Amino acid sequence: MRKPIVAGNWKMNKSLAEGRALAAGIVEAVASYKGCDIVVAPTAVSLAGVGEVLGDSNVRLAAQNMHWAEGGAYTGELSAAMIKDVGCSWVILGHSERRQYFGETDEGVNHKALVALKAGLTPIVCVGETLEERESERTLQKIELQVRAALASISAADASRVVIAYEPIWAIGTGKTASSDQAQAIHLEIRKIVAEVFDASVADAMRVLYGGSVKPANIAELIAQPDVDGALIGGASLKVESFSEIAKIVD
Ligand code: G3P
Repeated sequence: MRKPIVAGNWKMNKSLAEGRALAAGIVEAVASYKGCDIVVAPTAVSLAGVGEVLGDSNVRLAAQNMHWAEGGAYTGELSAAMIKDVGCSWVILGHSERRQYFGETDEGVNHKALVALKAGLTPIVCVGETLEERESERTLQKIELQVRAALASISAADASRVVIAYEPIWAIGTGKTASSDQAQAIHLEIRKIVAEVFDASVADAMRVLYGGSVKPANIAELIAQPDVDGALIGGASLKVESFSEIAKIVD
């Protein structure tokens, strides 16, 4: 059985004080939930401060990005060791906003995933199609390319620790959610690709999240799908009530 995941991507929101308050509220609200992994990804400058608030609670800390190098002349970047040092055990990689605005490539995402796994971090690798790709029926092609590239050179032993987040770009922050059927169909395809790259047992073990305008009102239907193993949440993760409500439904 795959343990579901409820992950909040705070993106470039919340000051340190606001982030700590949000984290404290979440820790309190979800303290009794044991059936899912709960993860929050604050901004880089708030990682240490939010990590302190999470303490040894059941809420894990994630970075929104990291670099693949161990260190050196990479202005503005953070290494796997650095994010671990401030308490991260998870990292989001290849979010569509990073791909779109900061030039992240499939190769770079793969490089980061390899380094994250080696460092013992759980990578959440994001994939997803644009509206134009969906309308021109290129969704599967795009997803297959991204998934295969992200998993390149990863060992079968490490692969089941990778989490894939399917985030259709047209559903991010737009209020438009993929229908649960649309999400299920792509999640199933992702699992088939993983089975081709590795084998059925890796595909079976790998957790695939849905992201894109997830809220308390639509999570029940999404999580009821056999291949949807949780959610990566943007907007609704910025409030204790909505995030913990989603976690309650998934749990
Ligand atoms: O990574 C989460 C994300 O991109 C979805 O954002 O605001 O549509 O839930 P949102």
